[in-house]
Amino acid sequence: MKGIILAGGNGTRLQPLTFVGSKQLAPVYDKPMIYYPLSLLMLAGVRDILIIARPSELPLFRALFGDGRQLGLRVDYAAQDEPRGIADAFRVGADHIRGEECALVLGDNLFHGANLPSLLRRSARRMGGCVLFGHEVSDPWRFGVAEIDTKGRLVSIEEKPRRPRSNLAIPGLYFFDAQVVDIAKDLVPSARGELEITDVLRAYLREGTAELVWLGRGVTWLDTGTHETLLEAGSFVRDVQRRTGTRLACIEETAMYMGYIDPDDCHTLGSEMGNSPYGQYVMERARSFSLGMPPSVLSEEL
Ligand code: DAU
Repeated sequence: MKGIILAGGNGTRLQPLTFVGSKQLAPVYDKPMIYYPLSLLMLAGVRDILIIARPSELPLFRALFGDGRQLGLRVDYAAQDEPRGIADAFRVGADHIRGEECALVLGDNLFHGANLPSLLRRSARRMGGCVLFGHEVSDPWRFGVAEIDTKGRLVSIEEKPRRPRSNLAIPGLYFFDAQVVDIAKDLVPSARGELEITDVLRAYLREGTAELVWLGRGVTWLDTGTHETLLEAGSFVRDVQRRTGTRLACIEETAMYMGYIDPDDCHTLGSEMGNSPYGQYVMERARSFSLGMPPSVLSEEL
């Protein structure tokens, strides 16, 4: 399965923070925002990843991850010259997907919770159309919204409805079969001028192949699109890390846990940041793993 991280957009809601920098590189406590969606894809078992960003910001992402080899990944890059909408990811990324299944994650979404890694891997495996997720929120009008009937079947999907039919928001993580490229090709912009991801999901719903997976209360989902939610996400990460002594979205540890790199490689990556508590944590995890102790991600963290 291929992966795409959509990390473009103008970040206008975060100005002036984003005047000269990418929103998805803004710090969420101790690491760049994009580490969170990247670790999510890695935990889903996805290793061939395309990062889509604004042309001026691509070099920054490239400087951060290179070709991904150090993490046992293959990372490629593509430019989105205008923010034409989330579904544009499948046009920009058509060559990358090339007839395979694909996971799309938005570069500003952060997930954490019990059983999430196994849920992701299960979802990635049982694909027969598309898989979207549902998460209860108190402000559904800010998101894509899924409506289910009394039997729990998905019946409607709407983008930022003024009067939401449910409080089940659709987070920015989706799994699609290879058809998604053709579906996206035929899309027309919505009334607000964007190629909507919800229109793609609706095409699968019409075919009867859209599966909704409910993220229960055990999963925290944060979108970091505003100053307020960015700060909330940072505080959340700090609190969890302080309480547990682990690091969320530690991509080096995740790569080791997933078997993408070995503990020695992981230790080397940590030593390159050895002056920071983050680097020391990576080295410590590599040492424990060599001694046969389970890494923190085994306790189902992201
Ligand atoms: O966060 C989940 C929500 O994300 C979903 O529930 C909605 O259905 C979906 O439309 C989206 O809504 P947002 O209002 O949060 O989308 P936003 O325009 O903020 O874009 C989300 C991310 O994707 C953000 O990091 C910027 C990036 N992006 C967005 C667009 C429109 C791009 O890279 N290119 C684009 O053309």
